[in-house]
Amino acid sequence: MAVAGALPVILAWLQREVPAGKVLLINNSGFGGYGYFPAPSATHQAGMIDLNVRAVVELTAGLLPVLKQRGGAIINVASTAAFQPTAYMSVYGATKAFVLHWSLALDQEIRREGVPVLALCPGPTATEFFRRAGLQPGSVADALSMDSETVVMTALAALTKGRAVVVTGWKNKLGAALVTKLPKTWAAWLAARVLARFRLKQAGGGA
Ligand SMILES: NC(=O)c1ccc[n+]([C@@H]2O[C@H](COP(=O)([O-])OP(=O)(O)OC[C@H]3O[C@@H](n4cnc5c(N)ncnc54)[C@H](OP(=O)(O)O)[C@@H]3O)[C@@H](O)[C@H]2O)c1
Repeated sequence: MAVAGALPVILAWLQREVPAGKVLLINNSGFGGYGYFPAPSATHQAGMIDLNVRAVVELTAGLLPVLKQRGGAIINVASTAAFQPTAYMSVYGATKAFVLHWSLALDQEIRREGVPVLALCPGPTATEFFRRAGLQPGSVADALSMDSETVVMTALAALTKGRAVVVTGWKNKLGAALVTKLPKTWAAWLAARVLARFRLKQAGGGA
């Protein structure tokens, strides 16, 4: 992961190809991993922190002067995993809790400078995510899955309305609202029961 090295290239591209107008930064890249910690591997877990947390912070910091100067917005892709500890995906859930809390705090700092920040919290969505995380098709997630177009439209609608956080879909909204009312230890127990039902398979090379 070398965001710092890539930043001059990104900034030069932006100035050359889109020299004026507002900028929408979407911090979307991310991956998970399923298993008893540290499975699939300590390297996989550290890489997850690098991409899901470190790259998001570095990229945002590097592009912030341009965002403030030209105006724009930031969408940080968190997850419903951010609302409770997530056993068997413990590092992944913690990275998304970071993204949610950091986004909300950053929004308080920079919205008044013309750069609102939206924390997007999708539930299970039909992408490559679960396969890459080491889960077989037919897992619990598939039954709840939304399509990615609906998630994108929900995010853009929330940004237009000036929201700082959005959870996609009513089932996910209800789940997030209920779980945040529970004591953290109960929420962790409940999530562990649900996530234990996910069928494990070999990750086969990680992200
Ligand atoms: N799908 C879900 O159920 C779900 C639910 C909640 C939140 N999310 C979040 O949504 C975001 C997008 O995931 P997705 O569902 O679209 O999964 P995906 O289909 O697996 O896409 C993951 C994206 O992250 C990029 N990526 C993966 N590993 C990378 C690495 N080491 N370095 C740089 N880029 C990397 C991928 O780029 P390449 O294709 O070029 O590798 C791809 O653009 C993630 O932050 C994920 O945590 C997903």
